[in-house]
Amino acid sequence: GGATTVVVHPDAATLAEAAAARLVVALLDAQAARGEAALVLTGGSVAAHVYGALARHRARTAVDWSRVDLWWGDERFLPAGHPDRNETQARAALLDGLPLDPGRVHAMPASDGPDGEDPEAAAARYAAALAAAGGGRLPRFDVVLLGIGPDAHVASVFPDHPLDAGLTVSAVRDSPKPPPTRITLTLPTLNTADEVWLIVAGREKAGAVGLARSGASAAKAPAGAVHGRVRTRWLLDRDAAAELR
Ligand code: 6PG
Repeated sequence: GGATTVVVHPDAATLAEAAAARLVVALLDAQAARGEAALVLTGGSVAAHVYGALARHRARTAVDWSRVDLWWGDERFLPAGHPDRNETQARAALLDGLPLDPGRVHAMPASDGPDGEDPEAAAARYAAALAAAGGGRLPRFDVVLLGIGPDAHVASVFPDHPLDAGLTVSAVRDSPKPPPTRITLTLPTLNTADEVWLIVAGREKAGAVGLARSGASAAKAPAGAVHGRVRTRWLLDRDAAAELR
C-alpha cells in the first residue's frame, strides 16, 4: 500500500465538514486529470454526516457530477427503497440533490431484484457490473469511503468472518451487525483503490481504531487491512483517536 496519514479533528461535526471538503477536492483533482471520477460509498451514521455536509458544501458545484461514478462498498440485502439500505440513506442525504448521471449510480442489488432472495447471485451480478465498467477488470476507484465498527469491521467484512478472497464481491450471511444478510466488496477489491479513507467518530470506536492501527491480523481487525494504493487516510475525531499510541 501507499502512505498512511492520520488526521484528528476536535469533534464529529468538524470531521464531517473537513471530510466533505476533502472529497470535493479529490473529485476535482480526479476530473482535472481524467475528466471523470469514481467514488465508493459506505453506509453508517458517520458517513451520513459527511454526505449531509457535502450536500451543503458550496464548492460541491465545482464538481461535474454527471461524470462521477458511484459504487457501494457494501449493502444490506433488503428490498429496494428500504430505509436501512445504504443506498436509500445515501440518496436521501446527498444523491437526490446532485445532478448525477443515473447510469453512473451503481447501487448494489436489492433483495426484491432480479436475483430474488439469493445474495450470492446478487453479489455475482455486482461483480459482473464492476468487470463490465472496468473492461474485464475492476474499474479505477479514486476514493473508497469506509466507516468502521466497534469490532473493527469495514464494509461488511467482519472479524473472524472469512470471505472467499478470490471473489471481488461477496455475499455475507449471519452478519454480527443486523441485518444478517449483506453484500460486500472483499478486502482485495477495496485495496485496488487509489485512496482509502476511514472516517471514524466516537469513543465507542476508539478501541477498534487502536486495534486496527496496532498491526492486528486482518481476521481480527479487518479495518487494519484496508489500504489505498496511493494513500490511506484515517480521518478521526478526538474521541475515536483516544486509544492511538
Ligand atoms: C453498514 C456499514 C458499516 C458501517 C460501520 C460504521 O452497512 O453498516 O457499511 O460498515 O460503515 O459499521 O457504522 P457507523 O458509522 O454507523 O458506526
